Amino acid sequence: MFISFEGTEGSGKSTVLDLLCAALGSRGVSALRTREPGGSELGKSLRGLLLDARQAVTPEAELFLYLADRAQHVRQVIRPALAEGRLVLSDRYADSTIVYQGYGRGLPVERLFDLNQMAVGGLWPDLTLLFDLDPAVGLARARARNTELGIEVSEGRFEAETLAFHQRVREGYLAWARRFPERFRLINAGNSPAEVYAQVENMVEAVIFEQ
Ligand code: TYD
Repeated sequence: MFISFEGTEGSGKSTVLDLLCAALGSRGVSALRTREPGGSELGKSLRGLLLDARQAVTPEAELFLYLADRAQHVRQVIRPALAEGRLVLSDRYADSTIVYQGYGRGLPVERLFDLNQMAVGGLWPDLTLLFDLDPAVGLARARARNTELGIEVSEGRFEAETLAFHQRVREGYLAWARRFPERFRLINAGNSPAEVYAQVENMVEAVIFEQ
């Protein structure tokens, strides 16, 4: 079972993933928690290039770096874990490229879908949880977190983007999710952290324990 977590900046998905992995672990489920960019050894190097706000990058170059990260991640990390019967939880996956590089940067969405098909070799998540939040709220949270961690430059490329960019990303996610209603579940990330977590835990447990 493969579940991806998607959403705009500061929507709280990483915090929820921390709690979820701990809860699943205490129920005897050892999930593989991974992320993009940076889920493989090669990807760790690519992550620095992709997120460093000091390095200018064209939308096309950025696209192919994300696809390279994903192609390696799928084959080296995700598929082997699924083959062992493990639950895989990924913080972002191919939908991020469709939405950020497509709806956000303006590259053609249908081409991106095809390129992603090639990058992932046809492997799409069984379930995708979309954390939806007003980008004005999320960006403030994400920028504060980056400052606290001292990574506002080294990992701050998208936090430095305009609010209009993040509005396009949010709308893009909602439009893209409507296209795959079977796979996507919408989470209102503006609710309290406890409510958000409870909603996610219920959804995930429903799919993994009722297989
Ligand atoms: P990250 O620090 O992992 O932040 P977050 O907590 O928001 O997930 O940053 C990943 C950034 O990379 C995020 O701003 C979205 C962007 N991104 C893309 O633009 N395209 C992609 O394909 C992926 C995987 C991420």
